[in-house]
Amino acid sequence: MKRVFSGVQPTGNIHIGNYLGALKQFVELQKENQCIYCIVDMHSITFPQDPKQLKKNILDVAALYMAVGIDTKKSIVFVQSDVPGHAELAWILACNSYTGELSRMTQFKQKNKGRESAPTGLFTYPILMAADILLYDTDIVPVGNDQKQHIELCRDIAIRINNRYKNTFVVPDGRFLKAGARIMALDDPLSKMSKSAENIHSRISLLDEETKIKKSIMRATTDSEGSIKFDMKEKPGISNLMNIYSVFSGMEICEVEKTFEGKGYGDFKKELVQVTKESLTPIKEKYEEIRHSKELLDILKDGAERANTISEKTIKRVKENFGLGL
Ligand code: TYM
Repeated sequence: MKRVFSGVQPTGNIHIGNYLGALKQFVELQKENQCIYCIVDMHSITFPQDPKQLKKNILDVAALYMAVGIDTKKSIVFVQSDVPGHAELAWILACNSYTGELSRMTQFKQKNKGRESAPTGLFTYPILMAADILLYDTDIVPVGNDQKQHIELCRDIAIRINNRYKNTFVVPDGRFLKAGARIMALDDPLSKMSKSAENIHSRISLLDEETKIKKSIMRATTDSEGSIKFDMKEKPGISNLMNIYSVFSGMEICEVEKTFEGKGYGDFKKELVQVTKESLTPIKEKYEEIRHSKELLDILKDGAERANTISEKTIKRVKENFGLGL
């Protein structure tokens, strides 16, 4: 059995990009692997968070994990800050990584745009992410395309340490879906769909009302040509919508093209609204059931205990190999 690890930041507005790029994979991978899914609250404080809102967002993500189909009897679900090993290992990894490689991270460059000085945590974000992964001897990391560079860095650090010290870490592989790995903003198909974009119609959040879903899709940017053909370069708007349709409906892109041959964007968008609603309604219903149940806190507590047991073993091995402590 392979070990799978991934995480989502509790920063609100979990959207269909997060779902189609990452969460959907989380659910599929449970069948044949031992999966560990984390709510990475320590990553979220790389930008200031309102403490009350953060607590709420943590529980929202936990409930969403379960609502999309993560089975907490099989998989471990827990909150990152409940397991001290993440921060501990992050320091050790920081001592084995370089400012040069961190400076090359495109996500850092984007998030730090226009600032003279960066919060240190934002700069070292990928190291904490590497610690999350390596702490659990992870084989597979299901994520969206935007995390590719972070996974590469994690692998580099693991290989470097394995070469410098005894074989200490399992070197993980990223897992990216063919469709869904990069869902673009509905109002700007050249930017990735994001939780923090100002325009709420740039994204569809998993908990959006039906009227909001319809509005966001019907006003999504397309082009003036009017034919439903997949061409990410020349027709990024409609191609992004086709991508979303393809993953929600389970149809290949070529089937989508065939189905809508000769039809207009308006007709296609109506069908996309339908398939999106059909996919999100059961998630919303399940979420409502779980979100305020007492069970949710118990599950997270149990998850943290199980995660801590694994983490402590890794930390012990790492300290031993590095000659740390007595
Ligand atoms: P976060 O919360 O920003 O994103 C969660 C997951 O959603 C994916 N994603 C997307 N996929 C497709 N299209 C999009 N528009 C889109 N936007 C986001 C992300 O790739 C991610 O898989 N750094 C991670 C959190 C993290 C983590 C980890 C992941 C921290 N430690 C260890 C894996 C392993 C992140 O981006 O979270």
